[in-house]
Amino acid sequence: RVERLLEEKRRAELSARIASGEFTVESSGPSKDPGSKRARLVLSEVRHSFIPLYELYLTYGGIFRLTFGPKSFLIVSDPSIAKHILKDNSKSYSKGILAEILDFVMGKGLIPADGEIWRVRRRAIVPALHQKVTWFLYFLTYIRPKRCQKYSRKGRRDFTNKKEAICGTRKKQPLVMTNDFHIDATMELKYHIFENIKYVAAMISLFGEATDRLCKKLDAAASDGEDVEMESLFSRLTLDIIGKAVFNYDFDSLTNDAGIVEAVYTVLREAEDRSVSPIPVWEIPIWKDVSPRLRKVNAALKLINDTLDELIAICKRMVDEEELQFGEEYMNEQDPSILHFLLASGDDVSSKQLRDDLMTMLIAGHETSAAVLTWTFYLLSKEPAVVSKLQDEVDSVLGDRFPTIEDMKKLKYTNRVINESLRLYPQPPVLIRRSLENDTLGKYPIKRSYIHNLMQYYCFFARGEDIFISLWNLHRSPHLWDDADKFNPERWPLDGPNPNETNQNFRYLPFGGGPRKCIGDMFASFETVVAVAMLVRRFNFQIALGAPAVKMTTGATIHTTEGLKMTVTQRIKPPIMPILKEDATVSSSKGETK
Ligand code: HEM
Repeated sequence: RVERLLEEKRRAELSARIASGEFTVESSGPSKDPGSKRARLVLSEVRHSFIPLYELYLTYGGIFRLTFGPKSFLIVSDPSIAKHILKDNSKSYSKGILAEILDFVMGKGLIPADGEIWRVRRRAIVPALHQKVTWFLYFLTYIRPKRCQKYSRKGRRDFTNKKEAICGTRKKQPLVMTNDFHIDATMELKYHIFENIKYVAAMISLFGEATDRLCKKLDAAASDGEDVEMESLFSRLTLDIIGKAVFNYDFDSLTNDAGIVEAVYTVLREAEDRSVSPIPVWEIPIWKDVSPRLRKVNAALKLINDTLDELIAICKRMVDEEELQFGEEYMNEQDPSILHFLLASGDDVSSKQLRDDLMTMLIAGHETSAAVLTWTFYLLSKEPAVVSKLQDEVDSVLGDRFPTIEDMKKLKYTNRVINESLRLYPQPPVLIRRSLENDTLGKYPIKRSYIHNLMQYYCFFARGEDIFISLWNLHRSPHLWDDADKFNPERWPLDGPNPNETNQNFRYLPFGGGPRKCIGDMFASFETVVAVAMLVRRFNFQIALGAPAVKMTTGATIHTTEGLKMTVTQRIKPPIMPILKEDATVSSSKGETK
């Protein structure tokens, strides 16, 4: 209640500031239509927080333009316009500002890349997360069977004799693409038809083992009665996971702070600072060499690049020596990493491009998942009823075991808690695009881009329209959701489909949508489900007494301003110590549980 009152007070203050002329708001858009109004406001207001965009959305609707000197941004909060940009006419939009900001760290990696480089790299990387099957199934059952046959003729994959099985499953349970596909239907398909079970199982044990290390840390804090800062612990947990998953490197950041771990954080912070900086000081030639901050960033980048080069060399040797044949079910048990898969698949790519891709996945899969866990625990701390329901489910499904692949389908409520946390705190809160071709969005004619290289950064007039699709606005819109600000996992029925952009008509976009949708969605869903399940079954979490109020600040993802300080206590019931894998095999072979 207090929060709601504060929120109302804040909104009233903002309206007063707009009324007093501090923000100049123009309503003379390209037409007089209320849906195409123009807003002009001081850009610095939106730099550190996207909340003003929400206030403006409530006033000006699903599409409006902000102008600041020569710069202008079109803010989109309308599901059908978002669908048009992300899916229906995705070819007419690039990553724009994002590619410029992330160039120093991701180069031509999958997130910033556009055009042919993106197409080639996406085709190479998606199978490494064992998802190509999804796309092929989609082609096969819905759209272009001939294309699949073409692929199988090329000897890439043989799908022909699997068609019947797919159709059978389709009759039993209608398939919807992407998330649904993964959790409700594809999982079945993958287990029974394509036997990718090995990879998913390997990832789930990785998530379990890393979370168990975090549990041990929390055990110590709980016994000593010390409060813990959960945001940084989640960041370390997900760094350890993604390092192993992407290039089989153990950062061990939950216990180790020096060297490479510090370098990764230096680079991450720099990427976030650049994304909210009004002037690109890092582009000034002399500044690059004299600024201590930039010198530190360059040293950190060099250390990471050297480490990556070394890991690539080690992995190449492993691949050369191994006798395993590359095929649909390929996975090296010792090293199921994405890097290993890419090298084994004969991915013909320069080492710079490979490094860019690895770096991209390291960053994409690290801060996002950490932020999801942070905000999930924050939300849970305010809803004890949700926590008890969650704990009941976890106790009954997992007992004292490590989670397995089969549990992923059974932990439905845990999954709904994550779905709802992603609705309230989407990571990232804003998707960025720039127009390449002429188009029309709502009542706004969109101009094409006349230059397509990094010079766009300096040529405001020759580049296309910069667009922010606000996931925050879409996910919290009072026009699209009942009780939009309320954390209510029950809004997603347990027997309904897993919510995704398709079945929610683009009002819910936690993993984006269209061809540039996140490739790590299944990975991240399982990762966060495993972490939440293992933590809540073992501990109770409360905001620590005297902890600073939890407020938001934004970079690429939503952070807390001063951390999430929590008091962790051991749960009394049931007595929980996860069974080690060897013990589990022994006890299950005896038909008993520990
Ligand atoms: C793209 C969210 C985890 C790799 C995206 C996009 C979103 C997103 C919204 C679309 C960006 C856009 O359209 O501009 C998330 C969230 C995650 C998560 C919320 C965790 C809960 C991961 C993980 C990986 C990953 C674990 C890697 C293993 C990528 C890549 C792209 C992407 C490579 C770019 C895809 C492309 O442009 O083709 N992610 N992501 N993400 N994500 Fe994730």
